[in-house]
Amino acid sequence: MKIELPKWYDLHVHLRQGDAMEDFIKAQIAMGCAGVLAMPNTDPPIAKVSDDDWSIEAYTDVIKAAGGNAFSEIIVPLYLTSDTTPEMIKDGAAGGVLKACKYYPPHGTTGAQSAAPLETYVESGVFAAMEEAGVVLCVHGEEHGLSGEKYFGHESNAEEAFYNDYMPWLIDKFPKLKIVCEHITTKVAADFVKQASTNIAASITPQHLLYTVGDMVKGFKYHLYCLPLVKFDRDRQALRDAATSENNTKFFAGTDSAPHTTKATDCGCAAGCFTGGIAPQLYAQGFEEAGLDLTDSAAQEAFKRFLCINGAAFYGLNVPKETFTMVKEEQAIVPLETANGPVTPLPLGMGQSTIPWSIKA
Ligand code: NCD
Ligand code: ZN
Repeated sequence: MKIELPKWYDLHVHLRQGDAMEDFIKAQIAMGCAGVLAMPNTDPPIAKVSDDDWSIEAYTDVIKAAGGNAFSEIIVPLYLTSDTTPEMIKDGAAGGVLKACKYYPPHGTTGAQSAAPLETYVESGVFAAMEEAGVVLCVHGEEHGLSGEKYFGHESNAEEAFYNDYMPWLIDKFPKLKIVCEHITTKVAADFVKQASTNIAASITPQHLLYTVGDMVKGFKYHLYCLPLVKFDRDRQALRDAATSENNTKFFAGTDSAPHTTKATDCGCAAGCFTGGIAPQLYAQGFEEAGLDLTDSAAQEAFKRFLCINGAAFYGLNVPKETFTMVKEEQAIVPLETANGPVTPLPLGMGQSTIPWSIKA
């Protein structure tokens, strides 16, 4: 079985910085990726638009120099901090450099220590300036600073709290603000996005289509530890329904591929799953596990909408004319050797040395 698809945009990926960046970019290109939304949680974060040696403009050049000149699109969202001003948004958007901004819950994930609470940007006028200028808000939707039982409880968790309590408030204040609810993991978030207006969309990662928290806890598979955490079966089912639905115009691919050369440490575990080089294959596996028969043309269309069409449409990007081909042939998974040492791809971390789909070279 073969599927030919337009090259696609990975609308949430961590390319990092330094020597290993070249290896991460090669892995992106090898999986038919035509462009990226490259996350700004570098060290230090990308918190300026231009005129600085570490800004959206500067980081875009760094990505290009590390092999990213092969990408037809590179979007770097501005990392929102308490120093972000409405003027930065207005000027950045007018100059064409600023397309998106990223909200991280303070201390809520890898590299989120420079972030400020959501209210900050309501009060400072930053969200109003974004709404006015048509700049997309990329949201890591988890309430921060919760106690353990509220962070991941039976009745609720940090993501559900965010989509129940914060998002309705936010969209009520800024009804025209374009928002991507990134890497959603719960039925609550999926339902929120479905019922919201067309300026609200969501990305879904391969791991959240494939796994539940039980898969992580069983044998403590720490390579599956990413934030937001994988959740329960009802949540995975809701994500599968959203991604595979024949009416899906809002849910799209954003891998959140997040390479870590050291995952487990003496006192914890770095959050992030690495799916570079294999994300379309894992998404195809997720679609099949959701019950779709990818030999069927309607199922292939649904897959194409999710991987190649919806995200491009939301960000106003052209769907590339160039194509790549996926084949249902087993592929061996090996660690990615990088300038900073090996990175373990997620399936290998889950104890699987092969995956069912490959990309035709
Ligand atoms: C990401 C990383 O490693 O940079 N980790 C993750 O668990 N997803 C940060 C993020 O996007 O939350
Ligand atoms: Zn991420």
